[in-house]
Amino acid sequence: MKIDTSLNMPQLPEALSQAGLQFTVATEEDFDEIMAMSQDIYGGLDYLPTRYTSWLQDTNRTVILARKHGKVIALESVCVIDDGETMLVEGLRVAPQERGKGVAGVLLRFCSELVKSRYPEVKVCRLTRDDQLGPKDFEKYRIITKQGILLMRFRAEDLKLHLSEFGLEGDNESTLSAFCSSPPPVRLDHTAIQQLYLNSDLMHGVLPNATIIQDWQPFKLLPSNMAILLKKEIDWMVDDMSNPTVASLCTFPFRVPIGDDWYYLNIDVFGKDLALARQQFLYHLQRHTATLKGHVMCQMFLDPPLWKAMAEFCHNTLSVELVKEYTEQCVVECDVI
Ligand SMILES: CC(C)(COP(=O)(O)OP(=O)(O)OC[C@H]1O[C@@H](n2cnc3c(N)ncnc32)[C@H](O)[C@@H]1OP(=O)(O)O)[C@@H](O)C(=O)NCCC(=O)NCCS
Repeated sequence: MKIDTSLNMPQLPEALSQAGLQFTVATEEDFDEIMAMSQDIYGGLDYLPTRYTSWLQDTNRTVILARKHGKVIALESVCVIDDGETMLVEGLRVAPQERGKGVAGVLLRFCSELVKSRYPEVKVCRLTRDDQLGPKDFEKYRIITKQGILLMRFRAEDLKLHLSEFGLEGDNESTLSAFCSSPPPVRLDHTAIQQLYLNSDLMHGVLPNATIIQDWQPFKLLPSNMAILLKKEIDWMVDDMSNPTVASLCTFPFRVPIGDDWYYLNIDVFGKDLALARQQFLYHLQRHTATLKGHVMCQMFLDPPLWKAMAEFCHNTLSVELVKEYTEQCVVECDVI
């Protein structure tokens, strides 16, 4: 979805037009103002600085700003996926001094009106929430799935040392497979991904609700979604092509603005087998930290019952620092009416 910045406004419900906000499509020039209101977001793990330019260029996506007296006070991004049926909202943020006044609600309703006016076939809105949802939220939302969030940090050089103590150093996959009793996982190329995820129903038992959740974004198993996913720099793995039990997606490390030389790795693991999940995690770590120097924040999303054992493994065996206790994210949807 791409609309020009002059933004033909949809007819707004009265409550929205009374909120005294102006809405515009974000441009490159707005970057500094957006960053100025984003400083405390996600404990420094804000992905927007890295993604902003590509979000603006993404033909599926529109980044909307709310302004008050011309000044940017909130941002939300909307993306139409699932063959045009789903509006995905991401990146929501409100300037600290404007929080708690209903701005997020107004912006979300504006985005919904905008998408409906341009994409009448959109039926549902999907989003991911990692805050505490209450009964009022569940009147509005249906849960697609829940994932445990395991957030850890380490210095790439230290992790490599620990991996080497276990014979996991470098890119020597045979030593790694010696540590893990199962055969090595299979890294998938584009053809194998299409074959497994689209041309068979083998992944239905592995993925929650037949949904690929990558970096908070839920995608149904459709060719149009796969085209979006395959443009991203991601490593895809399964334990076994012909009978998969566990699958994982790992982003290539990207910089985050916590400080100099801080990188972020996002790993989504699907499936319920701890040993296989751990094995794929180790393969991703080995591959993506081999040439890295500096600090790494690694966020793993996994089936909630696996969280505790995985956290103990990370802390006790890999000696990485766990940044927080158990938290979870809910992928939810509501009807667009
Ligand atoms: C979370 C945040 C955007 C809320 O902004 P706010 O203007 O204070 O929120 P409001 O006063 O409008 O109140 C809440 C409304 O936003 C919705 N909301 C709150 N957090 C939300 C989220 N993460 N995603 C989508 N909707 C959210 C609430 O459900 C409610 O909707 P309703 O009006 O339909 O009931 C704001 O506190 C913020 O910028 N926090 C830091 C960034 C952040 O955590 N963003 C969450 C991204 S997942």
